[in-house]
Amino acid sequence: MIIDGLHRNHILLVIKKESFLKQYKKLDKEFNLRWDTSFEKLVNFSQTSDIPIHNWFYYQEGFSPVLVKKILEKLSIKEGSVLFDPFSGSGTSILLGKELGLKTYGFELNPFSHHMIKAKTQIYSKDDLEIIKKFKIPKYQKISELYEKYELRIIENLFEREDFEKIENLKKKINRIKNQKSKVALFACLLSILSHISKYRKGGNGLKRKKKFIQTDPYEIFDKKRKEMLKDLENQTGIEPKVKNDTCLNMEKYSIPSIDISIFSPPYANCFDPFEVYKIELWVGEFVTSYEQLRHKRKTAITSNLNANVTKNVSEQHKTELLDNILNYLSGKELWDKKIVKMLNVYFNDMLLVLQKIYKNTQKGGYCVIVVGNSAYGNLAIPTDLILGQMGQKVGFDICEIIVARNNETSSQQHSKLLEYTEYLRESIIILKK
Ligand SMILES: C[S@@+](CC[C@H](N)C(=O)[O-])C[C@H]1O[C@@H](n2cnc3c(N)ncnc32)[C@H](O)[C@@H]1O
Repeated sequence: MIIDGLHRNHILLVIKKESFLKQYKKLDKEFNLRWDTSFEKLVNFSQTSDIPIHNWFYYQEGFSPVLVKKILEKLSIKEGSVLFDPFSGSGTSILLGKELGLKTYGFELNPFSHHMIKAKTQIYSKDDLEIIKKFKIPKYQKISELYEKYELRIIENLFEREDFEKIENLKKKINRIKNQKSKVALFACLLSILSHISKYRKGGNGLKRKKKFIQTDPYEIFDKKRKEMLKDLENQTGIEPKVKNDTCLNMEKYSIPSIDISIFSPPYANCFDPFEVYKIELWVGEFVTSYEQLRHKRKTAITSNLNANVTKNVSEQHKTELLDNILNYLSGKELWDKKIVKMLNVYFNDMLLVLQKIYKNTQKGGYCVIVVGNSAYGNLAIPTDLILGQMGQKVGFDICEIIVARNNETSSQQHSKLLEYTEYLRESIIILKK
């Protein structure tokens, strides 16, 4: 029998929405789930704006370094331990781990994010810093063929022409620097000001035109940022992290020592495409130069959105009774996109593989801490936290607890559809132990 592209070899039972609540509540109990609002503000990036280095770039999917510190303290992780983050993002876990004297390893697939992690965490010598200090703004030069090298369709709309010429002037000058570390830092400085200068802002699942665009001189903003960065780099500590620009599903190809703790947040299964949101930085930074390259990156990412690879072959290994029931239930619903059930199926298969690989590389007694948000489809909340908890158990971890940090805000319309499931639209911290 084929249901919405999913093969099932057993007869479909008609599952009522009400039946899920009992299953969710049972698992809440089994997994020692508790609510703790002291974590509420720590599962997002909003508290990061005054924390040096971490605040170089606003990463909307990031969590707070304070969260990482709190977890390390709670689990008594000592200096010199190995910390791993398979989805490093803006580098929060990696940078905080480095600052606290841990050995840090990670993966980040988005080449722009990976560049920012490198700039934030590499150890700069006095000579490297001197080059950044002495960097002089280039003389403004007009460029006749400004847009021709870009395939990005909206490139001409992103900036005022003169601003874009200044960006290109800066890029050219930075590219001529021979010292790699200084070059990485100055390029990160340029990347971090792009959304400020652009006529577009990040909004929802992509870019939106700014309603009130106030033109600011890119040269001034760049120089201000460069000075702030230099100040932050005066007090660097720790061991240089090793973060690969690859999918974490390839982790066994690299040599990673036995892990003491993994602290990470995977992409949430909410159809949000991170490659879309960082379009300006990816294209203007020339990390992608063609739509074909972009497509390939999206297909390599964890299948958390419809631009990812939803047709990947999956085993049945990741299935739990709960996940199977949810997928069956959703198969019978009219969802806003037919591929959602497939996407969820591949998402959990990807996540099982990640957990299996982490488990294999974790010390006995080591931890795996996952920060994740649930989503909702067909008026049913999908408890990603509980399903990942089950998968953690499946691969061999014990569940210490699940801490719910916050309930996601819902509109009154959404609330009236989700009803008693509204409380399951939440962001949680899953603590697993080997
Ligand atoms: C929720 S964000 C992590 C944010 C991070 N905890 C922080 O504080 O900045 C998830 C990240 O996973 C990355 N990602 C998606 N698929 C990946 C894969 N297969 N391997 C490695 N990274 C991946 C995305 O680019 C995104 O940056």
